[in-house]
Amino acid sequence: MSYQNILLDVAGGVATLTINRPDKLNALNALTLNEMEHAFDHCAKSESVRVLIVTGAGEKAFVAGADIKELSTMTPLIAKELAYRGQQVLARVEHMGKPTIAMINGFALGGGLELALACNLRTAATTARLGLPEVSLGIIPGYGGTQRLSRVAGPSVAREWILTGDQFSAEEAHRVGVVNRIFPPAELRAGTMKLVDSMLSRGPVALRFAIEAINRGSNIPQREGEILECDLFGLAASTEDMREGMAAFLEKRKPSFKGK
Ligand code: COA
Repeated sequence: MSYQNILLDVAGGVATLTINRPDKLNALNALTLNEMEHAFDHCAKSESVRVLIVTGAGEKAFVAGADIKELSTMTPLIAKELAYRGQQVLARVEHMGKPTIAMINGFALGGGLELALACNLRTAATTARLGLPEVSLGIIPGYGGTQRLSRVAGPSVAREWILTGDQFSAEEAHRVGVVNRIFPPAELRAGTMKLVDSMLSRGPVALRFAIEAINRGSNIPQREGEILECDLFGLAASTEDMREGMAAFLEKRKPSFKGK
């Protein structure tokens, strides 16, 4: 599949999906969402992909939001469909079952921050600016931002960010837990790859179960989440990866996981 608005590169178990409309600061239009959905599905299924990095082309923007030109003429029914569609595509990356990292290289605004929030982890260049500016356009976040920002950084941060519509520095985003790590721009890729390398060395099935326990567990009562954890813990004990991981520890060697 050849794409117009994204690039997908796979090497050494790592897929890098780059949103590639730098002249529009990588804004998410309908075609871009379709292509992202296709790429997310491919990465979910492909055995050569163990970790996904999502980033933006150029030095200025990760993604500066949903495409305001497309939004500007929407009727209420179309607006509902657009929000639903964006949420559907971001759910694909959230539930991919493999570690995903948003590598925020510049503006991550509106739908751009919402995309980053749907990834498991976020790294950012110290020059990045983040925010949910929808209220300054007379709308509210529609790609899950009102729900995920609270879950990632707490309701107090979500209220401040969404109600002010302000842009925040990467340092502030890191301080309040919206991003996991920040790096000078020239070190963003290498710093992100350190996180990736850790995850590449771990058991793929264990990573999948851990992601599922955290994602599903954050939406149900804690005791239910703990029972889910018991079930997935039990299931992990059925894997070759568990036997290999524990044998490697006891034999004082590095494990060689097969993802089985
Ligand atoms: N949708 C569509 N086009 C966008 C866009 C978006 N979300 N964000 C930027 N662009 C386009 C601009 O219209 C401009 O296109 P043009 O050259 O054809 O006029 C181009 O990208 C460059 O943006 P520009 O505004 O000139 O850059 P800037 O450096 O002056 O400002 C931002 C950068 C990010 C502050 C500014 O582009 C912005 O506020 N964007 C919208 C952010 C937003 O509200 N996102 C939420 C959408 S729901």
